[in-house]
Amino acid sequence: MKENYNEYKDMINDYLLDYIPHIDTKSSALYESMKYSLTAGGKRLRSVLLLSSCEFAGGKAMDALPYACAMEYIHTYSLIHDDLPAMDNDDLRRGVPTNHKVYGEGLAVLAGDGLLTTAFEVMTKDMFLYFDNLKELKKRINASYTITKNAGVRGMVAGQVSDIEAEHKQCSNEMLEYIHLNKTGALIVASVRAGLYLGGADDEMMKDMTQYAENLGLAYQIADDILDIKGNADELGKKTGVDAQHEKITYVSLNGMEASEKKLKELTMNAVKAIDKYYDNAEFFRNLVLELENRRR
Ligand code: IPE
Ligand code: IPE
Ligand code: MG
Ligand code: MG
Ligand code: MG
Repeated sequence: MKENYNEYKDMINDYLLDYIPHIDTKSSALYESMKYSLTAGGKRLRSVLLLSSCEFAGGKAMDALPYACAMEYIHTYSLIHDDLPAMDNDDLRRGVPTNHKVYGEGLAVLAGDGLLTTAFEVMTKDMFLYFDNLKELKKRINASYTITKNAGVRGMVAGQVSDIEAEHKQCSNEMLEYIHLNKTGALIVASVRAGLYLGGADDEMMKDMTQYAENLGLAYQIADDILDIKGNADELGKKTGVDAQHEKITYVSLNGMEASEKKLKELTMNAVKAIDKYYDNAEFFRNLVLELENRRR
């Protein structure tokens, strides 16, 4: 495994545009708008998790790259759509104006569609290379299925629907957890599981790391909710205070700041505990969740 986060992040940044298929020059605006959001920055958390999980299970990060880039395309599409006036109506993302502010709403919708479908094209194209190697092909089908399932109507999309439906309403903690686990947790869990499949993890590692990722996923969105109040817009690259403005259901709006910070700590510790038995081998994942607990961006 690589020593630090940035080594994986650099890999993603180096290859992210290369996997995008050739787009006809008559549709150059489509390519430009997709590229704009992809290269505006971003922590690359999900793709880094995918690459590192693959190596943790004994695979090669390079083999997982198409799937890691696909995950980053899906995540970026989710942000472009999340920022649209019909959803969260945000005008700043990754430190620059949101996609629809630059390219207009129609193109922003289509740039999102383009990124989502590119993800599937890239993963399927990779599978073509393994037609005569059933063992390797199965790993890729499992990875792609996990990503597809968790990005869609049983994961992120479902969570986003509940998120906008819950605006201006009363909501239970059970519902809040459903929203967070789906809109944000699902892609994080899928990243880890897809990486593990590609690396050839056994059932026990799959179970432990899934538990790690579920706790990390929920913690990540609670930290996002906290940062919307306590964070600094320049550091975050997005506006703060927007959740209250839209009367969003967040962990903080429902339980208060103190309980949210306590919950974030608790989930972080649960994630650490889930991978206890791997000792030093899991140091990368232990450090990651501990650093994310105190993230400022
Ligand atoms: C933002 O995700 C949306 C959430 C699910 C909280 P990130 O905070 O990972 O955004 P980028 O990719 O770094 O811009
Ligand atoms: C975003 O949740 C979840 C997805 C994009 C799927 P938020 O709406 O809280 O994310 P930010 O705060 O706009 O990044
Ligand atoms: Mg949102
Ligand atoms: Mg938003
Ligand atoms: Mg938010």
